[in-house]
Amino acid sequence: MKKSGAVFMAVIMMMSLCACGNSDTGQAGESAGGNGQAEIGREETDDMVRSDTEGESEMNVVEENDAGSQTAVQLPEEFILIQGGTFQMGSPVEEAWRSEDEVQHTVTVSDFYMSAYELTQAEYQEITGENPSTFSGEDLPVENISWLDAVSYCNARSEREGLTPAYTVNGADVTWDRAANGYRLPTEAEWEYACRAGTTTPFNTETSISAEESNYYGHYPYEIEDNYFSQGNLTTKPGEYRQTTVPVTSFSPNPWGLYNMHGNVGEWVWDYYGAYNSTNESAVGAEEQTDPTGAETGTLRVYRGGGWNDFAKNMRSAYRAALAGDKGSFNIGLRLVRNAVSGSGSVASAGMEHTGSTGGKVLIAFFSWGGNTKGIAQEIQAQTGADLFEITLVDPYSNDYNTVLDEAQRDQNEQARPELAVHVENMEEYDTVILGYPNWWASIPMPIASFLEEYDFAGKTIIPFCSHGGGRFGQSLTAIAKLVPDAQMGEALSVHYSSGSDLPDEITEWLKTNGVIE
Ligand SMILES: Cc1cc2nc3c(=O)[nH]c(=O)nc-3n(C[C@H](O)[C@H](O)[C@H](O)COP(=O)(O)O)c2cc1C
Repeated sequence: MKKSGAVFMAVIMMMSLCACGNSDTGQAGESAGGNGQAEIGREETDDMVRSDTEGESEMNVVEENDAGSQTAVQLPEEFILIQGGTFQMGSPVEEAWRSEDEVQHTVTVSDFYMSAYELTQAEYQEITGENPSTFSGEDLPVENISWLDAVSYCNARSEREGLTPAYTVNGADVTWDRAANGYRLPTEAEWEYACRAGTTTPFNTETSISAEESNYYGHYPYEIEDNYFSQGNLTTKPGEYRQTTVPVTSFSPNPWGLYNMHGNVGEWVWDYYGAYNSTNESAVGAEEQTDPTGAETGTLRVYRGGGWNDFAKNMRSAYRAALAGDKGSFNIGLRLVRNAVSGSGSVASAGMEHTGSTGGKVLIAFFSWGGNTKGIAQEIQAQTGADLFEITLVDPYSNDYNTVLDEAQRDQNEQARPELAVHVENMEEYDTVILGYPNWWASIPMPIASFLEEYDFAGKTIIPFCSHGGGRFGQSLTAIAKLVPDAQMGEALSVHYSSGSDLPDEITEWLKTNGVIE
């Protein structure tokens, strides 16, 4: 472990040691009580204790079809009617740690049913016969599934239960039949509407959410970044980092009876990642949207809510995470939805095919502050013989650890683009860029953003590798994907600090997975 890592670890440990309960924050659901928009009765939600994860205990619900006649639909009992309404989607400009893509706009959503819980491993396994999860437990949320896996699960379960599948899947192209009564993913708007449950605060607890109220990287509560050295201003002090998912019934539900909308696992939603106001047919030229379904084309799918490995800032109700639809993560699962009113028409996913392919001429580009990433880059260079390029700054960060922590969070908060000192003159010759960086505040250091914005990566493959002090990738893969949506992403590698003697083998295997070496 190199110096920078050791010091960061020491600070983390110190923070863990002093982590204490947060007596200021109330329990989710208790403080908010009723709400004006959706009438989810407290009697209904408080009794919603999931007795088992096996067997389909169902309830009858009367559904009105287009012709106005009523038909009974069968729903698993943990599904909650979310009554439609109008809300402000996105975050206000003054919200701390918001991103520019959270532009606030007025959205109306229709009624829908949403599962009170994230989908469990037992439920996933029962339908697919498989359990790809990193952590193991029947009542833990399934994770490590791609968006395409999630969509396939929805269809398979619909078929098992005699419902009309919501999706037609043709390779990576998926079309959603909005009239189908089967299981489906929520739209991004439905997800945020349900998560907020009438709240307008960064979290649906209306307070800065604590590790006693949700499962996240509890050492890093909301606004820890800018209050790292003097934590007196923090509403919520650092708490437990569980380093695992927890049962889907954990903690109090939000005011509408939904559990773990913040934390545990991020949740795939239907939408392609894109700007809110320019891509949806019902949104052309308009701020206001009704039942939006996201960008019409794209390369990334959105997932929401944050997971066990996320900092609080990345669990906010408005935070938008994104990843390629064929990739999974131990931090991402899903929550099911069914129509309460029949939608009409279909939404095709005219996904832009990635033209990039791994191979061709390879460049290893990296930014390193303390040397760990540099050491990993050099090992990759030794194994591939590829060109090596160090990203350096005109105005370098301080050599002092405490100072760089502050500089880095400031740059991230401001979304700064530090000026690069050197440039790749022949970028057009490279087909694959292996991109290395340290995890800084659960994301990329801003010099990586400067680098990615300097060149055209369309058609190229980017293979990220990240040196970290315990936070793995954080949200760095989302940050990269958003910056270069036209590039193909290879399988990423995270390395704990500089790793140990296993590093060469780890790298060999990873390079083979990516087809860089044979
Ligand atoms: C400014 C700064 C922020 C950091 N933030 C995180 C973090 O959020 N999560 C994490 O796991 N490690 C974090 N670390 C630790 C580094 O990711 C880790 O020490 C890494 O090995 C450093 O790589 P380098 O030596 O190439 O700079 C941070 C380190 C610094 C200097």
